[in-house]
Amino acid sequence: MQEKITDIIKKESFTKEDLVRLLSSEGEERAVFLKKVAKSYIGTIGKKVYFRGLIEFSNYCTKDCLYCGIRKSNSKVDRYNIDDDAILEAARFAHQNRYGSLVLQSGERSDDAFVERIENLLRRIKAETNGELGITISVGEQTEETFRRWFEAGAHRYLLRIESSNRDLYYKIHPQNHKHDFDTRLNCLHLLKKTGYQTGTGVMIGLPFQTYEDLADDLLFMKELNVDMVGMGPFIEHHDTPLYQYRDQLWPLQRRFEVALNMIATLRLLMPDINMVAATALQAIDPMGREKALRVGANIIMPNITPTFHRKDYQLYENKPCTDEGADDCTNCLNIRIEMAGREIGYGEWGDSRHFFKRISGKQ
Ligand code: 5AD
Ligand code: FES
Repeated sequence: MQEKITDIIKKESFTKEDLVRLLSSEGEERAVFLKKVAKSYIGTIGKKVYFRGLIEFSNYCTKDCLYCGIRKSNSKVDRYNIDDDAILEAARFAHQNRYGSLVLQSGERSDDAFVERIENLLRRIKAETNGELGITISVGEQTEETFRRWFEAGAHRYLLRIESSNRDLYYKIHPQNHKHDFDTRLNCLHLLKKTGYQTGTGVMIGLPFQTYEDLADDLLFMKELNVDMVGMGPFIEHHDTPLYQYRDQLWPLQRRFEVALNMIATLRLLMPDINMVAATALQAIDPMGREKALRVGANIIMPNITPTFHRKDYQLYENKPCTDEGADDCTNCLNIRIEMAGREIGYGEWGDSRHFFKRISGKQ
């Protein structure tokens, strides 16, 4: 007889089999599982949801990930690079609207001009917002020296998804060349922690060839790496990418969405005090996707504040929401939606990962 899900949730620690059971749950059993997590976890991290204004400032990318719409080889993409003044204006928007923090995201580049540009930009944003705006960066793999320069210039969080912690699967979704090396990526995560960043990682859910066992290992990987933040969401196939050829072998979109929520709920049990993003990709499948994620464990939202003109060109996946709205529209609709999900917005607060402070004090 299989163990009951209600008994599994009560455990102090979970085996890989426990995790697979939670992640693969469906129907009534799944509903009970999610409800239990929704009820219990607010007691640990509180009701607050924190905003990180997301600026996707450029889609130039030196990488060629087989799943990504803005990969280097996709010649159909109009490439853009938002200038520093426009980025600064978006930063001021975030500051004035009391977003607390900013996420600077772009395709991956590591040339000197880029490194220097980001460093200067970080200093300008910090200066213009009286040091009040927290800054997260998400621009891929870099050298230790670069991580350090940006940290010293004012960034204090860094997101670098491992995409899949299964090395074999990693090489199935990335080209086989030195630019896409699993160990380099993993090493970057260690360097980020060493440099002093609040460090975030994440995976895609419902990739071709991916199993529930892989996903359970992904969660164990995050726990083992002792990360402070996680952002994970469903894989959504993009027709101009090589992985599109496997579209008939994927879980249906709705199932990818369900399993993504199961991942969030399960990780909340495994790592109660980390920050977890309600990923935008969830909303591409279900209009209430992010709010559903908030209910079952997420506590961070990244409203897109990229100047509207270029949003349509930052299509990592298809059906990306809010690509034709101004930032204002997004803010208004988010307020209402978050309150509907029974949560409060931590206006003007950084909302740093509680786990980070425990980690650096040696308590975790
Ligand atoms: N579907 C879902 N997520 C994607 N990403 C890239 N391409 C896709 C896709 N097709 C995610 C990756 C990357 C983040 C910026 O976007 O996980 O780290
Ligand atoms: Fe690697 Fe876009 S090319 S995530």
